[in-house]
Amino acid sequence: MSGADIYHEMIVDYSRNPINYGKIENHDVTFHDSNPLCGDSIDIDMKIDDDKVTDIKFHGKGCAICMACSSVLTEITKGKSIEDARKIEKNDVLGELGLEHLQAVRIKCALLSLKVLKSALYTYLGNNMDEAQDRDKLKEEASNLY
Ligand code: FES
Repeated sequence: MSGADIYHEMIVDYSRNPINYGKIENHDVTFHDSNPLCGDSIDIDMKIDDDKVTDIKFHGKGCAICMACSSVLTEITKGKSIEDARKIEKNDVLGELGLEHLQAVRIKCALLSLKVLKSALYTYLGNNMDEAQDRDKLKEEASNLY
């Protein structure tokens, strides 16, 4: 089996049996966003203790690439500090599934969950920050995501 076949199989597998799929009822932060091109949508719930993402789940609907990337992203994020989760980049997710050279039209499928994760982190930080200055810095970081 070639490398491409293995990645393809992983994507199909994750889309049939997504990891970390579901809701966290007593979450500390949740965020929702959708892909305007297809209407697919993802919610991410997180439990945060001592500035660490102790639990993370996603739910919603999406294509196989979207579901696979959401599974991988939530696996990568679980257990990380907020600071380290903020540093997760698109290639950290795409690389796990051999999708670094994805066509532009599918890239939004692959990165929807990363966009939701970052927005959830900024929401959490914004809600737990006293300094207006820091909040402005976060807003700027969020608007420069993609
Ligand atoms: Fe909708 Fe991929 S087709 S997220």
